[in-house]
Amino acid sequence: MAEVTVQAPAKINLHLGVGPVRPDGFHPLATAYQAISLTSRVTARDGGDWALTCTGHDGVDVSGVPLDDTNLALRAARLLASRAGVERPVALHLDKGIPVAGGLAGGSADAAATLLACATLWELDIAAADLAALAGELGSDVPFGLVGGSAAGHGRGELVTPIHDAGRYDWVVLTFDFGVSTPAAYAEFDRLHAGTAVPVPEIPAALVEALANGSARELADVLANDLHPATLQLRPELAEPLSAGLDASALAALVSGSGPTCLFLAEDRDHADKVATQLTTYGRVRIAHGPVTGATVL
Ligand code: C5P
Repeated sequence: MAEVTVQAPAKINLHLGVGPVRPDGFHPLATAYQAISLTSRVTARDGGDWALTCTGHDGVDVSGVPLDDTNLALRAARLLASRAGVERPVALHLDKGIPVAGGLAGGSADAAATLLACATLWELDIAAADLAALAGELGSDVPFGLVGGSAAGHGRGELVTPIHDAGRYDWVVLTFDFGVSTPAAYAEFDRLHAGTAVPVPEIPAALVEALANGSARELADVLANDLHPATLQLRPELAEPLSAGLDASALAALVSGSGPTCLFLAEDRDHADKVATQLTTYGRVRIAHGPVTGATVL
């Protein structure tokens, strides 16, 4: 095998419960992830040397993506090679359909896809749990990229367990030409909660029930993101599109992860199209649905 391509999805947080900052600087999370149908593809090829190239599709601007050793995909390939004792450099190509620095875990999806692509290319006999552990070393959202679907995330987000989900949910995804740094959003969360006792987060039973029932209306009532106020503080201009989406009859509106991407839940695909037409002046609008599968070899 000389080349393997893997597709991996964007993630959104249906619930993002954030606890008090830990001594290591991370925050304990109780989050419910959902993988949605914005996807990136990673191709790993046997190369003479380590190399990385990147393109975007569906209007994704990749000009800010680092192509050096700091790129999470290249770090993923090198980590797997060193742990598995592989001495075969790969050339990686990322074709990104997930907006960059948007709170959609686009870099994490690349890393998850790279782990699976390289494990397949190198014909490694590696257990899913071991691949997930490597993924967790790379970043809090990377293990979820391997699993997809709807899932609970604990620890700093890296401990993932599937949640039964009977539904299909249609989302309007509004992205902007600016990003929000994840560490900056968490730092703002700490600032906003300074001097207060931040409770240990939990995933609400009502959310698990809404997913088991496959009900978009029930889900709309329980969507929540503890980083939402922090991100709004950093980017107050997000308030306007969020309320415009509700005015346009979205069932719910919230910031995705650390933002700035805004998510609007719709009744169905037609309703999503209708909501989307009211949001085009604010940024780039995409329609997506979830849950979708995690990293998959094409
Ligand atoms: O794990 P990841 O590399 O995605 O995290 C990026 C940054 O986000 C961390 O350096 C940290 O500042 C913040 N973070 C956090 N608590 C988490 C996840 C991320 O504070 N659970």
